[in-house]
Amino acid sequence: MKLQATLCVLLSLIFELSSCEHLRVVPGSTLELPCLSFHTDFSEVDITWKFNGKDVSLSDQSPGSSRVKQNGWYLSISPVTAANEGEYTCVMKENNVEMIRTFNIRVDASVRYTIKVIEGNTAPLPCYFPPSSHVKADALWFKETGSNMRTWLDPEDDNKRVELLYPLDHDQTSIIRNTVMEDAGLYICSSEGESLSSVYVIVEVAPTEVPHSCIGYTAAWEPCQDENSRTGEPILQESITEFSMKLYSFLRESQPSNNLLFSPISIGGILSHLLLGARGHTRKAIERAVCVPHDFHCVHLQMKKLREKLAGSLQMASQIYYNPQKNLSESFTNQSIQFYDAQPTRLLETSKENTDMINSWVANKTNNKIKHLVDSVSPSTQLMLLNAVSFSGQWKVKYDLKFKKGPFTKLDGDLVTVPLLYHQNYMAAMTHDVELKAQVARFALTGDSSLYILLPRSNKVTDLQQVEERMTDTAVLNMIEKVKRISPQPIEVTLPQIKLDIQPDMNILMRKLGLSSLFEDANLCGLYSEERLVLNEARHRAFLALTEQGVEAGAVTSVSFSRSFPSFSALRPFIMLLWSDHANVPLFIGRVTEP
Ligand SMILES: *[C@@H]1O[C@H](CO)[C@@H](O)[C@H](O)[C@H]1NC(C)=O
Ligand SMILES: *[C@@H]1O[C@H](CO)[C@@H](O)[C@H](O)[C@H]1NC(C)=O
Ligand SMILES: *[C@@H]1O[C@H](CO)[C@@H](O)[C@H](O)[C@H]1NC(C)=O
Repeated sequence: MKLQATLCVLLSLIFELSSCEHLRVVPGSTLELPCLSFHTDFSEVDITWKFNGKDVSLSDQSPGSSRVKQNGWYLSISPVTAANEGEYTCVMKENNVEMIRTFNIRVDASVRYTIKVIEGNTAPLPCYFPPSSHVKADALWFKETGSNMRTWLDPEDDNKRVELLYPLDHDQTSIIRNTVMEDAGLYICSSEGESLSSVYVIVEVAPTEVPHSCIGYTAAWEPCQDENSRTGEPILQESITEFSMKLYSFLRESQPSNNLLFSPISIGGILSHLLLGARGHTRKAIERAVCVPHDFHCVHLQMKKLREKLAGSLQMASQIYYNPQKNLSESFTNQSIQFYDAQPTRLLETSKENTDMINSWVANKTNNKIKHLVDSVSPSTQLMLLNAVSFSGQWKVKYDLKFKKGPFTKLDGDLVTVPLLYHQNYMAAMTHDVELKAQVARFALTGDSSLYILLPRSNKVTDLQQVEERMTDTAVLNMIEKVKRISPQPIEVTLPQIKLDIQPDMNILMRKLGLSSLFEDANLCGLYSEERLVLNEARHRAFLALTEQGVEAGAVTSVSFSRSFPSFSALRPFIMLLWSDHANVPLFIGRVTEP
């Protein structure tokens, strides 16, 4: 009975099975090809899949390769790449019947967008490399200027109206500033002759301009209703950790193999200070950027408490400099002093005076670890926000002072000789974190902080990237909880002595955080209400040194061999998190690829 029914089904399918299906798919997507279009139970069938005439291997599990699922009923490809283009056939045999189903797959990257923009505004031109690809060069943008005629958009031309937002990033989105009617048309983003995306831009006539107005936006920041609430502190801790990992993922994407260092608490500090004067869409954008809930009125009070809590090991200071022609709102000035211990300061007459004033403020607030932040201050500067942090911690267990050098293996396999911190039996907690795919060691510092060093499996860039991709806020918090529960054991430790002094590109970071509007069309009515105020520049500079005394101002170390003691030797690229155990937030995050 069963056999009969089965055969009926098989016969009725023959027409469909011998036909060929043409499918277009986008790179990066997941494709599932069914051998039959319905579900049934053929226990005796023998199914084989072929790709361009060759049998699909059942054992190949590498990403992007085709995988046979459910005894052959499905073929799954994820993520789809250009290499998956071709003919797929499913051959199904039962007794004396054989059926073949064929799919023709075309991988088509040219996703099409239509962008409508009002004259004078900035038009984004989206373009992405497939997630699995390795970005070696930026994509090129062309404008179609006639049938089969294309003009290259040279970013150096045209008063720099066209700009690539994130060079050498998977995100190759460009923008056209101050659009004019002539910008309408079709744009194509391509790399090595292959089209990655096409964008049709429509430019619309600008309506009569609405004059800038702060009406309805000038009230002071709302008071925190429940100053002693127990939930305020964990909300801010979670926000900072989430924000920190978001910043790290942006930075690692644009700098896949360099040394990295930044202080999330410093960047978060300056953005929350600015939030105090932000209203309307700008307030929402900053809240989203720093990952705080929209109606969290206590954010500034919690930032103040956090600064006070950290004061033993980390000094954090904010400062706002503004154009002497402007009078900042009195409530903003008052709240700035109340929450950020910072009285906004007028800029002086000349660029030289301002540069000196700002650089000496920075030097003072970082205990002279960073003496120089700006080279000049443009006379048109309206607003500058600064935040400086200085951290100084001593190892709880000191390193041997015996001077020693050792080889550090870089990502490309080259060796460099570096001075070492070495200890034969250092008491530290160490584990292998399965979730992060890294060996982790925690080195206790004075001031209730710890340095966590995450050591990928090898010096290979793919192993480093694997750890970085897994470093979500949840995974990092889980790791920290886990390591805290492990008791320290004697470990042979070898760390490179390092000194990092890095200025990440804040302008790129601000855009990635969704804050481009701060530079163009900000609502800072809580800060200044007479006319539109925009931010001119954002900068961040972080410094960290690992010395035999301890960690100064920032983050550090680790790896493993096994001899008499378990050992941790960070003589290859690693990631470090300088963590405040007292406040449970990251203070500095960095990556060392070349000490
Ligand atoms: C700023 O305040 C000063 C003193 O209160 C006042 O004399 C000046 O006119 C104000 N400037 C503007 C642009 O409002
Ligand atoms: C700002 O603080 C000063 C001095 O404490 C006070 O006199 C003034 O009323 C405050 N202004 C506002 C708008 O809160
Ligand atoms: C910073 O300035 C304050 C006040 O002028 C001064 O007391 C302190 O010593 C300075 N710190 C450094 C590191 O220069």
